[in-house]
Amino acid sequence: QQGPAFDVNAMTLTRWVLAQQRMAPTATGDLTQLLNSIQTAVKAIQSAVRKAGIAKLHGISGDTNVQGEEVKKLDVLSNDLFINMLKSSFTTCLLVSEENQTVLQVETERRGKYVVCFDPLDGSSNIECLVSVGSIFAIYKKKSEGDPVESDALKPGRELVAAGYALYGSATMMVLSLGKGKGVNGFMYDPSIGEFILTDPNMKIPEKGKIYSINEGYAAEWDKGLQDYIEDKKRPKTGKAYGARYVGSMVADVHRTIKYGGIFMYPATKSAPNGKLRLLYECNPMSFIVTEAGGLATNGKVPILDIVPSSIHQRVPCYLGSKKDVEELLNYLK
Ligand code: AHG
Ligand code: MN
Ligand code: MN
Ligand code: MN
Repeated sequence: QQGPAFDVNAMTLTRWVLAQQRMAPTATGDLTQLLNSIQTAVKAIQSAVRKAGIAKLHGISGDTNVQGEEVKKLDVLSNDLFINMLKSSFTTCLLVSEENQTVLQVETERRGKYVVCFDPLDGSSNIECLVSVGSIFAIYKKKSEGDPVESDALKPGRELVAAGYALYGSATMMVLSLGKGKGVNGFMYDPSIGEFILTDPNMKIPEKGKIYSINEGYAAEWDKGLQDYIEDKKRPKTGKAYGARYVGSMVADVHRTIKYGGIFMYPATKSAPNGKLRLLYECNPMSFIVTEAGGLATNGKVPILDIVPSSIHQRVPCYLGSKKDVEELLNYLK
């Protein structure tokens, strides 16, 4: 007995978010509106990413397309999409983007109660060689009175209302968590209807994996403890060696870590003592999601979600993944 040729009752992301709203007694529908605006930005980015080569969206700005227009680098295009869709949702008051040096204050007449930190295009160095890229977002509710200011975004990840990412891989997927132990859900994009469909309900990361993910090009700059840990993954005293996988797009490496288990690391190095990944729009949202999926995320000393940010582009070392793998690493870093 084949399943239906066409699902006439698909659980779309739009339906799912509305259902969550209806279950929350005090919900106003603002978060629904906000998440739908992000969904729209992601749909447009995925279309641009998949057409980039033909539409000459690749490469440095300064290229021109068939109409002789100056085409925007995908980083810029993705950023503009996020900013425009978020502002026009009337649900945000402050935006933090990797691509903007300072916070973006939403104009008064379009303000709402949410603060959104986002990485509009993650792994953008991989665009030219067609390796997977992504988008990452983190949503806070503004707590202070008065006009939105930078300190409204400098909150620990524990205070996040929601976080998610889009992975533009062999398929496009959105992964979302609304926190509070309600778990993580994955939605695969169906281009035939232009909707994200719930395909991975209640994602849980395996307690222990068999893959480690780190850029070994920096091995000479690692602390001794990390060197010893990686050595143990390669030549264990007991048990089997781990496999190694590193895409270089955080979204791709983290999504694989959640699906298959294991550990993803962007460590402190001698030349970059705080690592490379940014706390507000890369480490916090990914740590929120991995933690909700049953994993751990640390900067090597404390849970990433407990770090009180001091600046909006602050970098932190990031070690996240399967609970047992992260715990084992922490024993080496002591
Ligand atoms: P972005 O493209 O948003 O600047 O992020 C790139 C980040 C992250 O996606 C990835 O994990 C990391 O850069 C890879 O850095 P290395 O090339 O130094 O390994
Ligand atoms: Mn990034
Ligand atoms: Mn980016
Ligand atoms: Mn970048």
